[in-house]
Amino acid sequence: MYQVIARKYRPQTFDDVVNQDHVKVTLKNAIEQKRIAHGYIFSGQRGTGKTTVARIMARCLNCINGPTANPCGVCASCLEVSNGGGAVDVIEIDAASNRGINEMRELRENVRYRPARDNFKVFIVDEAHQITSEAFNALLKTIEEPPEWVVFILCTTEAHKIPATIASRCQHFSFRSVDFNDLVERMRWICEQEGIEADTEALSVLAQAGEGSVRDSLSALDQAIACCGAKLDAAEVRALLGAFGIEALASITDALSGQDQGKMLEIVDELERNGQNLQHFSRELSRYFRNLIVARISGEDTRLIAASPSERARLARIAASFSEDDLTRYLQLALDLFRDLQFSLQPRFHLEIGLLKMVQAGRLVEVEEALASLGGKPVKVVAAPKPQPSTAPPPARPGPSPFELDSQKKASKPAPEAVLPSAPPSGDAEWRDKLHSALMQLDMPFTADAIEHSQVSAEAGELAVFTPKEFALGIKADDLQKVIRHLALPPMRIKLTFGDVAAAAQNITKPKVTEDQITQRALANPEVQRFRELFGGEVRTVRNLKES
Ligand SMILES: Nc1ncnc2c1ncn2[C@@H]1O[C@H](COP(=O)(O)OP(=O)(O)OP(=O)(O)O)[C@@H](O)[C@H]1O
Ligand SMILES: [Mg+2]
Ligand SMILES: [Zn+2]
Repeated sequence: MYQVIARKYRPQTFDDVVNQDHVKVTLKNAIEQKRIAHGYIFSGQRGTGKTTVARIMARCLNCINGPTANPCGVCASCLEVSNGGGAVDVIEIDAASNRGINEMRELRENVRYRPARDNFKVFIVDEAHQITSEAFNALLKTIEEPPEWVVFILCTTEAHKIPATIASRCQHFSFRSVDFNDLVERMRWICEQEGIEADTEALSVLAQAGEGSVRDSLSALDQAIACCGAKLDAAEVRALLGAFGIEALASITDALSGQDQGKMLEIVDELERNGQNLQHFSRELSRYFRNLIVARISGEDTRLIAASPSERARLARIAASFSEDDLTRYLQLALDLFRDLQFSLQPRFHLEIGLLKMVQAGRLVEVEEALASLGGKPVKVVAAPKPQPSTAPPPARPGPSPFELDSQKKASKPAPEAVLPSAPPSGDAEWRDKLHSALMQLDMPFTADAIEHSQVSAEAGELAVFTPKEFALGIKADDLQKVIRHLALPPMRIKLTFGDVAAAAQNITKPKVTEDQITQRALANPEVQRFRELFGGEVRTVRNLKES
């Protein structure tokens, strides 16, 4: 009969148990010194050895040579315990199904009788946090004044749910999630025993899948063997477990370094078309950024990353092209995204927004850097369109008006992103509005906001923008060049001037915009568009929060 690997390879001695050294050493010493407590609490993540160690402990206590830290493994008692739950004096109780007061009363009765054959009566209570509070009270009496032959071992994943009255009468051991490399080695050994061929890469995928739980990793191994046979291939195993390789995740960081929003949307589309679970993906994405930060800070040889050596090297290479700040910001956004996706009815939209936000977060940094280099003083920046060098702008030579060139320009080289042929805006306010709505269309809300508070004039092939210092963050000559191209205007030089607020306030007359225009702007905003898509709403009123 086929036995699942986790059961077949359940450790029978302390030495077989992977990790948990602090638990093993302390328990061994206690047994050797015959200082055995009546109550133990084993707590910690699922599948890390709590029940396993409880059974080993029972063997140590009840072996015919016991109590001993090295049970013989062949006496009746040892054999019974290793078969699981069948020993006369080792009683396993699953509190998930026997949690009530009646079971505990029965248990209390049972406790009063001496062991039938062995030294101790060992009660292993699994999922102990599930015991009801009345039942705990019944148990408490026993644990307060236990007969000398009784040992309770309460196993739980949620130690905080054990009442303090009980906990204070027990010795507490916490089981840690199992170290990645140890887990890989354990599985390598098991595969050897089973005659399965598996390389480090494949084993790493399985170890990652378990997230520190040995049982979960071993179940994944079972699944992989059932599916792939005697030779495990990393790619197949990944596909089987729905895991994302670093290749899939690397496309996200590629899009980030290229600031490529279009690519982000393509990635989401691809995931969706391949039927990937987007929640799962967002979790992997968080883990990916976390690993990148760790690789960046601790280097590729760190044991803090649960990944194969080749994967760690690759992570380190990718991490090197971002700053720690960038990566921290991305991780934060990925975690927000993960949280949002837990409850989302529209995971695709959330994922899209989340990934686009990441690209935008990268842009914001550039602006911050630009501002830092400006310093606090009012400054004047002149940026010329390429190929003119921006450091030495040509003298403002009166040239043809930009709008005279308009038709020629379009005939010779149509701007690809152009919307409509432009009619020249006649006054300054019109220029400002035109730039503003184009910026909104181009999804550059920060620049749009800054323009709205700026004074704009266009003359002799030059666009002069005077911006109050507090909005300097939002203004970049490059972005304005983009707008000019977007509007299919002929090339213009951009002259940016930043001034102090008071002076600016005098210079600026608030743009007169009709309610209609405001609504149009709001409708052009991509976030608003998403909301409308999601909820099918209409825009009724638009309020400026800064003013109200
Ligand atoms: N530390 C470990 N070393 C070796 N194998 C382990 C270890 N922990 C768990 N295993 C493997 O996982 C299986 C399940 O372990 P065990 O039942 O002890 O987990 P647990 O901590 O009691 O989990 P749960 O909280 O889900 O009850 C074991 O049969 C064994 O194969
Ligand atoms: Mg258990
Ligand atoms: Zn024995």
